[in-house]
Amino acid sequence: MSIDIGVVVTDTYRPGDGDRDTAPLIAALRARGITAEPVVWHAWDPRRDGGFRMLVLRTPWDYSEREEEFRAWLQQAGQVCDVQNPPQLVRWNLDKVYLKQLQQAGVATVPTDWAADQSQLTEALVGHGQQWVVVKPTISAGALNTGLLRADSAEARDLGRRILDRGRTVMVQPEVPELSAGREKALYFIDGVFTHAIAKGALLARGGGFRGGSYQEDPQPVEASPAEQAFGVQVLNACAAAAGTPVPLYGRIDVVSTAEWGTVLLEAELFEPALNLHRAPHAAVALAEAVSRRLEQSAAQPVG
Ligand SMILES: Nc1ncnc2c1ncn2[C@@H]1O[C@H](COP(=O)(O)OP(=O)(O)O)[C@@H](O)[C@H]1O
Ligand SMILES: [Mg+2]
Repeated sequence: MSIDIGVVVTDTYRPGDGDRDTAPLIAALRARGITAEPVVWHAWDPRRDGGFRMLVLRTPWDYSEREEEFRAWLQQAGQVCDVQNPPQLVRWNLDKVYLKQLQQAGVATVPTDWAADQSQLTEALVGHGQQWVVVKPTISAGALNTGLLRADSAEARDLGRRILDRGRTVMVQPEVPELSAGREKALYFIDGVFTHAIAKGALLARGGGFRGGSYQEDPQPVEASPAEQAFGVQVLNACAAAAGTPVPLYGRIDVVSTAEWGTVLLEAELFEPALNLHRAPHAAVALAEAVSRRLEQSAAQPVG
């Protein structure tokens, strides 16, 4: 019997950072008569295994460590079935250089210097004097290779150099005090409609590494003001316009309201955000309904 939906996951997660979304999503789909099962992306060969009506990308969180393999897999998967969110949007969203494009489209973002080589890195760090900065790669997830360091420290230079050595671009940002105070808000949208907001707490320790020694999100439901929600919609639409795709099935817009810059975008997660469905069961229902609508639409379309 063929299964309707493959929920794309991976097979290893960091301690304390597991996948808490797939089980409630599959349960919500099944409650609507839609069959679904988890698919470990790198154990599923699109050319050989086929057989889903739709793949819903969810927690392939090791993609940033296996980028080339993931890109090739995505390409092949898109040839054999409907992939959501669409591969074109995923490719656009993989590399945080999209933030530049959003900025040009009028979206307020965390101020960022971009360094593609050693001299740009030095210039970016020197520009921040003795301030605390966050150094991170443009392709990353789960705060990998991300450090909250003094701009004039050997640690900041070393982290930047390690990122460059791996062929990646470095981002240098001022430490946003509201992020360090745990006020990052993840705004969730299903089919463009706001469903819930989560604050996940501060992650980075000054001087490098994580608070408490390891990556620990502490997801708590929070209110998002009408202005924050409107900002989220603006970002979501700007992403879809820049990538040339429709409004996505799901999206998470990470924002922070700051004293210095107003409400700004930290990142838009359009293919692998933790949805925190265990904190917002109504969002699992909304996502299952959105998937169901898309299946119906594709069934109604003529083949060919
Ligand atoms: N400029 C910054 N100031 C303070 N904290 C930051 C800053 N940038 C990132 N962080 C912290 O690091 C985490 C990971 O950074 P982020 O840009 O979201 O990358 P990703 O989630 O893709 O690894 C954020 O959730 C936040 O806690
Ligand atoms: Mg993030």
